[in-house]
Amino acid sequence: MNILILGGGGREHALAWAVMQNPKCDKLIVAPGNAGIAQIAECAVLDVEDGGVVVEFAGENAIELVIVGPEAPLAAGVADALRDAGIPVFGPSKEAARLEVSKSFTKEICKAANAPTAGYGHFTDAASAKAYVARQGAPIVVKADGLAAGKGVIIATTVAEAEEAIDDMFGGAFGGAGAEVVIEEFMTGEEASFFVLVDGTDILPIGTAQDHKRVGEGDTGPNTGGMGAYSPAPVLTDEIAQKALDEIIRPTMAEMARRGTPYSGVLYAGLMIENGVPRLVEYNARFGDPECQVLMMRLGAQALDLIHACAEGRLAGAQVTWADDHAMTVVLATQGYPGDYAKGSVIGGLNGLTEDSFTQMFHAGTAEVDGKVVATGGRVLNATARGATLAEAAQRAYALVDEVDWPEGFCRRDIGWRAL
Ligand code: AMP
Ligand code: GLY
Repeated sequence: MNILILGGGGREHALAWAVMQNPKCDKLIVAPGNAGIAQIAECAVLDVEDGGVVVEFAGENAIELVIVGPEAPLAAGVADALRDAGIPVFGPSKEAARLEVSKSFTKEICKAANAPTAGYGHFTDAASAKAYVARQGAPIVVKADGLAAGKGVIIATTVAEAEEAIDDMFGGAFGGAGAEVVIEEFMTGEEASFFVLVDGTDILPIGTAQDHKRVGEGDTGPNTGGMGAYSPAPVLTDEIAQKALDEIIRPTMAEMARRGTPYSGVLYAGLMIENGVPRLVEYNARFGDPECQVLMMRLGAQALDLIHACAEGRLAGAQVTWADDHAMTVVLATQGYPGDYAKGSVIGGLNGLTEDSFTQMFHAGTAEVDGKVVATGGRVLNATARGATLAEAAQRAYALVDEVDWPEGFCRRDIGWRAL
C-alpha cells in the first residue's frame, strides 16, 4: 500500500514509525515531514490545507491511503476532497471536524445527546456574556468558540478575570476564533484522554493517555501544547472508560450520524473524572500530540491495520491486540518555550541513539541544515519508550533524553509523577 501522511510534528513521526513497522506499507510519503521523518520516509512539500492540491498529489503518487495528522487540513475540508475523489482517508469531514473546530457546536451536540459535560452559555456579545458570569459567579471558564491554537481557554478565578477575558475575546485577541464565546462551569477532578476510532457507525477504543500541559515541574507555570504524556491513564479504569463510551461517546456519535454528518477518524475525548463519573471537557478530531507518540509506541504495526480499517468503514471486524505495557514520552523543548525562543540551535548526539521497538526518539520540530539537525520549533524532540511498568518506560525515556547533546533545550524531569 502507498500511504501519505499529512503533517510534520512528533505525532506524524510516531504515525510514520508505526506505519513503517507494518509490511503492508510499500511506500510512505509525509508532507511536510521533518528531519527525523526524513530518515524513514520520503518527505514532500505541498499545501496540505488545499484539498485540490492533496488530491492531485495523491493521484500522481498512486496513494491508496491518506492519514491526516493535524486539525487544520480537516477544518479546511481536505478529507472531504479526498473522499469525493475516491481516495481512502483517515480523518473526519469538515462538518464532523466541527466537534473540534467549534466549542459551541460540541456543547449543542452534547445537549442533544444528553452527554454529561459542563453547564454552559453561548454568547455573541460581551454584555450578555458578562451578565451570565455575574449570575454564575467564579471560578468559571471562558472559551473562544473557534480554533485558537490551544490558547483560547481562560480559567477565571474571579468575576473580574472572567470579564477581562470576555473583553479580550470580543476585542479580537483570538481573531475570528473569539467572535463567539462559550462560558462554562468550572469542573474539578482528574483529566484524562480517551482515544477511539470511529468509522461512521462502529467505535473501537484504542487507548488512554494523560499529558502534562504546564511547562514546569510539579505541573506549574504557563500552559504548553504538552510537555510529556503516558499511556495507559490509571484514572481511566475499564469501568469509567465503559461509562464514557456509553454515556458520552456513543450518544454523540449517534447524534452526528442522525444529523447526516457521521464522524470518521480518530476521536480524542478529553474527560474530567470525579468520583468515578466522567464528563466531557472537549473533543478533538485528531490524535493528541504528544499523546499519539505513546499510543503508537504501544500499538506498533497494528496501528496501520486499524487506521486502514477505519478509513474503509471496516471497524466492525477490527480488533486491538493489547500488550500489558506502559509507554511514556518526554518532550524536549527549546529554552524559552512556550514564550519566545531562538530557532536554529544544533542538536548533537542524535546519531547512534539507542532505538528499538522499546525506545524511539520522535522528532517534533527539526530540520536538517548542512548535514546537521537543528531545532525549528518550541517542542523539538519526543523521547518515547515503553516497558512492563510505567517506571521502566520512564527509565528508558529519560535514558534516551540523556543521550542527546543539546544545551539550548530542556525537558521536565517529572513526567508521569501522578501515576508513578
Ligand atoms: P480545551 O481547549 O477545551 O481542552 O481546554 C483546555 C484545558 O482547560 C483543558 O484541558 C482543561 O484542563 C481546562 N478546562 C477546559 N474546560 C474546563 C472546564 N469546564 N472546567 C475545568 N477545566 C477546564
Ligand atoms: N496534547 C494536547 C493536544 O494535542 O491537544
